[in-house]
Amino acid sequence: MIILGIESTAHTYGVAILKDQEVLANEKRSFTTPTGGMVPAKVADHHVEHCDHVLRAALNKAGITPAQIDLIAYARGPGLGHTLRVGAAMAKSLALLLKKPLAGVNHCVAHLEIGRLLTPAKDPVLLYASGANTQVIAYEAGRYRVFGETLDIGVGNFLDGFGRALSLGFPAGPAIERLAKKGAEQGAELLRLPYSVKGMDVSFGGLLTKLKAMIRSEKHPPEQLCFSVQETVFAMLVEVAERAMAHCGKQELVLGGGVACNQRLQEMCRVMAEERGGKSYAPPNEYLVDNAAMIAWNGLLLHEQGMTLTPEEADIRPYERTDDVDAER
Ligand code: ATP
Ligand code: FE2
Repeated sequence: MIILGIESTAHTYGVAILKDQEVLANEKRSFTTPTGGMVPAKVADHHVEHCDHVLRAALNKAGITPAQIDLIAYARGPGLGHTLRVGAAMAKSLALLLKKPLAGVNHCVAHLEIGRLLTPAKDPVLLYASGANTQVIAYEAGRYRVFGETLDIGVGNFLDGFGRALSLGFPAGPAIERLAKKGAEQGAELLRLPYSVKGMDVSFGGLLTKLKAMIRSEKHPPEQLCFSVQETVFAMLVEVAERAMAHCGKQELVLGGGVACNQRLQEMCRVMAEERGGKSYAPPNEYLVDNAAMIAWNGLLLHEQGMTLTPEEADIRPYERTDDVDAER
């Protein structure tokens, strides 16, 4: 079966083509600005401008013609209404032209399921750490459930805000990782920073305010700040992920989201999982960041459950919660 997937929840417009479990193409264009600010209508303009080339690139790479497509999957939510509409309109048009069914995919669930496809994990807890999202999700008692999440900003947006205060450019995550590594190699002393975990939830706003004041005081080198920030916020993420694993009795952790590209976070997750006799897995970076392959794969899973949509039913759900998704597994 050939599945075409479309991702358009935020700054990435992606089109992927899968032949059953095999990814034939996973193309994308991402909207960027020097500061990282996003005006939804501008991002949607970007997606309208690039949706045709990205589609063509994916078809060429996969070596298929549109007539060979059996199913069209698109990200239904959560995300920006403006950008979701671009992907949904493309998906519906293709479905009408090709007379093929549609599948409306939840973006957060897609991060979990692509981890199950690409790693040996069978029934993991997902630590989803991206720019806008920070959630701990697992499939439990017949539903995908959110066990913990950020109470304010996503960890990636936190890192980008901290990086902006240090003039590291956007996105700041990779630059923070490099400086933190240097700090660790230089034996930087860990600074005591606010650590905010409430049950299985986390928050970063207070820490960001504190860090901005510390940066203004110019008392600490950037390497020490980045090292201390990573150790602190990743410990928070690892703590809530571990609590969710213990609560659900699950032994596997899977990572998702752009922040999960961070090698130190991956290492801390591995250590935690191994200490409890479990395993932590991360798919390749291309599938950690927002991508259309995960949308196509989840479309196939929905199709297998008979949960496809007609163009009339193919809506967008900008505020869809992970626990509202109807899914069997
Ligand atoms: P979503 O819409 O799913 O929230 P997003 O578009 O906000 O996604 P992603 O593309 O998944 O986010 O990730 C982008 C974030 O990942 C940015 O905040 C960026 O700074 C962060 N990031 C990327 N690489 C690293 C890294 N090596 N270490 C830490 N953070 C990183
Ligand atoms: Fe995402």
